[in-house]
Amino acid sequence: MRGSFRHIWAVAMPMLLVKDLHAGYGDVPVLWGVELEVDRGEIACLVGSNGAGKTTLLRTLSGLLAPKSGSIVFDGENLRGAEPERILAAGIAQVPEGRRLFSAMSVRDNLLMGAHLRRDGAETIGRDLERMYGLFPILRDRQNQDAGTLSGGEQQMCAVARGLMSAPRLLVIDELSLGLAPAVVDQLCDALRLLNREGLTILVVEQDVATALELAHRAFVMDTGRVTRSGPCEALRNDPAIREAYLGVI
Ligand SMILES: Nc1ncnc2c1ncn2[C@@H]1O[C@H](COP(=O)(O)OP(=O)(O)O)[C@@H](O)[C@H]1O
Ligand SMILES: [Mg+2]
Repeated sequence: MRGSFRHIWAVAMPMLLVKDLHAGYGDVPVLWGVELEVDRGEIACLVGSNGAGKTTLLRTLSGLLAPKSGSIVFDGENLRGAEPERILAAGIAQVPEGRRLFSAMSVRDNLLMGAHLRRDGAETIGRDLERMYGLFPILRDRQNQDAGTLSGGEQQMCAVARGLMSAPRLLVIDELSLGLAPAVVDQLCDALRLLNREGLTILVVEQDVATALELAHRAFVMDTGRVTRSGPCEALRNDPAIREAYLGVI
């Protein structure tokens, strides 16, 4: 029964389905009934101004913050209230805002930390490490350096690669481009497009709406704790209200 239910879910439902999610800090509500979905194989983005609640939503998705109500379903599995390790094991990896690398550990050891829950053997993990060095060659050059000595862009590459080392089915990135030079952002976006073409599903959270709408297929716009707009990125890029509010075009 369970097997066939999962099968039906797999063809009929989005990979990630968030419904009527409420969460906050102590008695202070931040999320007011968030609705969001990510389909298998797409790049989705969540955009919105500073303080809109994007990171809070990601913290509930990764199990760091317990939601007050609502549901989070990933591949037919209810993950609301699940522990972070179970969520990672289910296949959702997060690249947190500010990267949170282990600054006194080498780049290589940071990447291997990403694989700590995997049980598929050193050989496969070693192959994936090579893939990461192929994707971001600078990380191979820097593999024995402490992560704290990397530039901001290199740290973001290391953080993305560390997330990938858990072999996720959904990669979630909080503030991909924040503080990085345009050339580095382009390089990161190219890497994400390549991974997506190879089948990885991605959810990117961005304050830079123009960058996000350029990278993703579908966008969700968040405003004071609610998703207020969603649709194909192309449609939102041409939407006068979005252009005025977020793209600086009047
Ligand atoms: N640890 C916290 N404790 C209390 N309030 C917080 C905490 N983190 C964020 N907030 C508040 O929650 C709201 C949403 O913040 P956040 O989710 O970080 O937004 P965003 O990522 O969209 O910039 C803000 O009003 C912020 O001040
Ligand atoms: Mg944030």
